[in-house]
Amino acid sequence: CAIKTYNFDVSWVSANPDELLERSVIGINGQWPIPTINVTKGDQVVVHVKNSLGNESTSLHFHGLYQNGTTHMDGPAQVTQCAIIPGGTFTYNFTVDQPGTYWYHSHVRGQYPDGLRGAFVVHDPEDPHKDLYDEEIVLTLSDWYHEHMPDLLASFINIANPSGAEPVPQSALVNETQNLTVRIEPGKRYKFRIINMGAFAAQYVWFEDHTMQIVEVDGIYTKPTDAEMIYVTVAQRWSVIVTAKNNSDANFAFVGSMDQDLFDTVPDGLNPNVTGWLVYDDAKEKPAPKEVESFEPFDDFDLAPYDQESLYEHVDYQIQLDMKMDNLDDGANYAFFNDQTYVAPKVPTLYTALSTGPNATNPLIYGSHTNQFVLAHNQVVELILNNDDPGKHPFHLHGHAFQLVHRSPDDAGFYDATTAPALPATPMRRDTVLVRPNGNLVLRFRSDNPGVWLFHCHIEWHVASGLIATIIEAPLEMQKQLAGKIPEDHVEACSAAGVPME
Ligand code: C2O
Repeated sequence: CAIKTYNFDVSWVSANPDELLERSVIGINGQWPIPTINVTKGDQVVVHVKNSLGNESTSLHFHGLYQNGTTHMDGPAQVTQCAIIPGGTFTYNFTVDQPGTYWYHSHVRGQYPDGLRGAFVVHDPEDPHKDLYDEEIVLTLSDWYHEHMPDLLASFINIANPSGAEPVPQSALVNETQNLTVRIEPGKRYKFRIINMGAFAAQYVWFEDHTMQIVEVDGIYTKPTDAEMIYVTVAQRWSVIVTAKNNSDANFAFVGSMDQDLFDTVPDGLNPNVTGWLVYDDAKEKPAPKEVESFEPFDDFDLAPYDQESLYEHVDYQIQLDMKMDNLDDGANYAFFNDQTYVAPKVPTLYTALSTGPNATNPLIYGSHTNQFVLAHNQVVELILNNDDPGKHPFHLHGHAFQLVHRSPDDAGFYDATTAPALPATPMRRDTVLVRPNGNLVLRFRSDNPGVWLFHCHIEWHVASGLIATIIEAPLEMQKQLAGKIPEDHVEACSAAGVPME
């Protein structure tokens, strides 16, 4: 195992990824797109961040990493750290013991869609599928806005937008461009690591005339499973193997198509698609993709984990979250869990948990707006999510991959265990999952990772409108693990931001 060190100077740079508008974006070391982090399972990762934005605070979250023993390196501002103010520095330092496809992004409210989002790949010398492919390629999907997030947020959460209609992106991108070609050699097998780093839009993805074989989702190996089309919500990752044809008679398009069901209105002239090409022969044309009549993506509920981990049968503790969107007295639209919209606490929740001794197990000490749940150590936790909203939402849990034990179709209403179908014997696990319109979702995980972890909708608009819960997992064990371990720069980040640590 190695120590991989990165020096990231975060600053504004200029870019024009859809070739429609040049604008400032958040880059690293003067570059955008920002670098892919490539490490090997077991590596220690050290990321020195300097915030040179001048006008915004920042932080980095390494999406999907469990941060076992290092919850203070997880990154969400006001949860596990104070945001890094302009001019500030901060070091993330953690060991990665899980293989797979991840990404990293700012976890300051509303910031990553302005550009601070990149791939994070953990290579695995013991990849059980390594004989199935010859090469691997990262494909990041994203949506793209011409306006900056602070401006968009100001009009999104506004009395003039009482229905909470989310801003619609101007474009879709792959590898932050609309002009991607992937050179293909006949007969070779390629593993594509597909990551949706967008703010809002899920994308349907397919490769024309090529079948995908799914081998991983969100860092969990699957039994290899064929699919013609997948549906990748924001923050999900899917690794698929595509076998090249044996000849170079033609080139083929691959397409990411934004799910327009998510958009309240579809602006005239919106191109929901981004197209790339599998190029077998440079001299041949790059064909326009064929029209698709109906979108019928593969259902990730039909996947099975490669390790065949069985269902956690016995539930020790249940969390029920009923979510809805509604208006508050200011006339703007917000999102709610159990009638409470999340408001970030002044003091990061982690520091409250670390500084309150035995009281850390009392949920009331975390205030009244963090949608907090305190978990005892090593329990099987069942999380029931009832979506009392006609929209689709991709939910993400920090610190864990959960078992997907139930997902209803559209309009099923609240979960009812007595009428639900039998649970799968070897449920798929992942860290980001879609709940359907007015449907429900049931997840299970073991509280074996002491820390403070968010559970939230990964649509960045809904993060801003409060669709967040806080899980304080095994706080007494966490206090023991982290005693004396919070580095000085974490303390300084808070004092620089004028936030008391306790
Ligand atoms: Cu990509 Cu709170 O996470």
